[in-house]
Amino acid sequence: MNIYLDNSATSWPKPPNVIEAITSYMTDFGASPGRSGHHFSVKAAKEVFETRELLASLFNAPSSDRVIFTANATQAINTALFGLLKKGDHVIISHMEHNSVIRPLRHLEQNGIIELSIIDCDREGYINPETLKNSFKSNTKLVVTIHGSNVTGTIQPIKQIGEICKSKNILYMVDASQSAGILPIDLQNDNIDILAFTGHKELYGPTGIGGLCIKNDIQIESLLHGGTGSKSEIETHPLFYPDSLEAGTLNTAGIIGLKAGVQYILDQGMDNILKKQIQLTDYFLSKLKEIDNIILYGPDLGEVRIPIISLNIKNSMPSDVAFILDKEYGIMTRAGLHCSPLAHKTIGTFPHGAVRFSLSCFTTEEEINYTIDKIKKIR
Ligand code: ALA
Repeated sequence: MNIYLDNSATSWPKPPNVIEAITSYMTDFGASPGRSGHHFSVKAAKEVFETRELLASLFNAPSSDRVIFTANATQAINTALFGLLKKGDHVIISHMEHNSVIRPLRHLEQNGIIELSIIDCDREGYINPETLKNSFKSNTKLVVTIHGSNVTGTIQPIKQIGEICKSKNILYMVDASQSAGILPIDLQNDNIDILAFTGHKELYGPTGIGGLCIKNDIQIESLLHGGTGSKSEIETHPLFYPDSLEAGTLNTAGIIGLKAGVQYILDQGMDNILKKQIQLTDYFLSKLKEIDNIILYGPDLGEVRIPIISLNIKNSMPSDVAFILDKEYGIMTRAGLHCSPLAHKTIGTFPHGAVRFSLSCFTTEEEINYTIDKIKKIR
């Protein structure tokens, strides 16, 4: 039996149209987009352009040339932070951030470039917008927050945070690694200046593809300089989006797979996917609450969360529980700190962490019932 409940690390299975789209590209027209004038290259470029258009529409970005493809959310976040921040800038993040936000900022802080403030969250992982307001300084340039927590499923009030940042003329970047594809995200109405996303989780694309969505008037300097297929006559890197942040050959197979993933979501209806996953997560949570000696983290039943539940069994190591779930029963989870040590400090599970169960639109009630039964046995 294989029960895959590690969709926050990467979603699996992928929808059939994603596999078909990648196979078709590799089999039928696998050329490099935007480089050569032949018809395979033009077809590949059209696919890339259509993917940008689809993502711009999904996130309500001002235009598709502000959709930048990177290898993953970490590269997207690093690109934005290193390309934007200057000496003397102050940055605010929360205690629920992932290492892909914490580590580049700690690096910039340790090298004397920026000042960093990390604001506390409550035990369920929520940021209090008032705490954020009290942390602003005259040199605050940027606020970065996660949208949906990869540890607790907590959904942050991004619209409210975006409004506060806008009122102070401070840039707001959202890490949508776990939420893009399942929660509505609207760059313009939510006052998000920069959105970092990954393609291989709730967007159901393959690994190796992610990106940034940037509001019109923000200039981010590129970490990389090189070939873009444009302005080949000049010896310096172009300054216009998306080329300025896309040096080197693109992951075309990944982009085409991502396009198919987005199409799958739109065909199913994002609302339907979200509703089904909320119902199944609530059902899972309600059954877990009936079991003695289970410690649950994050928002309580009745609060909307992304489909992630982290727990511990009293007096057990999370790594042992995850090992038995996998080895004895074929249930795949992720135990430990989930690359988010501060989030685990917030919920009181540092340093051993918790066992995380993360669902996808393919998770069934039968799988959840089977999992509950095995958790009872282990307990
Ligand atoms: N991929 C990371 C996780 O598993 C973020 O949570």
